[in-house]
Amino acid sequence: MRPTPVDRLQLEPFRILDKDWALLVAGTASPNPMTVSWGGFGTLWNRPVCTVFVRPTRHTFECLEQSAAFTLNFLAPELRHALAVCGDLSGRDVDKWKAAGIAPVASQNVKVPRVAGAILSLECKILATADIDPARFLDRSIDALYPEKDYHRVYWGEVLLAWSA
Ligand SMILES: Cc1cc2nc3c(=O)[nH]c(=O)nc-3n(C[C@H](O)[C@H](O)[C@H](O)COP(=O)(O)O)c2cc1C
Repeated sequence: MRPTPVDRLQLEPFRILDKDWALLVAGTASPNPMTVSWGGFGTLWNRPVCTVFVRPTRHTFECLEQSAAFTLNFLAPELRHALAVCGDLSGRDVDKWKAAGIAPVASQNVKVPRVAGAILSLECKILATADIDPARFLDRSIDALYPEKDYHRVYWGEVLLAWSA
């Protein structure tokens, strides 16, 4: 893994999250990895930004609120099982690092760790958040994705550093 300029990253933005999934790590005292597949990449406020969506029911939500940063980590196909574990169990109940057989490694620009062995990791500083307001859904079919009415909080993270294999 080596630092890579973000404008040199080769990504397939409509596959990498939706199909490959990623591990969002948040929290500093007790960092927690959580599987995500909703989000995106782009330019906002003249900066490279990575966006993630987290429901308030997740333990990760509490971690994000106290860390002001996150890392987004993409794993090789051999580590798919770790993504399944971290998208099923909660850090409230178990140490997901141990359960998934993965390990944290210190980040360079944020206090939240990356995932050791990831093929791509983004170190992100949270610039802003917003809560999804269902009153603003124009396509009412989206309501079906919120049976518990746990509408996501959106986190815009400035990509301070990208590591790629
Ligand atoms: C493929 C996949 C994608 C997921 N994407 C998200 C997501 O983008 N946002 C979210 O809030 N939860 C998402 N989840 C659910 C969380 O990963 C899951 O509820 C997890 O157990 C929460 O862990 P935590 O309580 O330790 O935060 C996803 C789960 C899977 C399996």
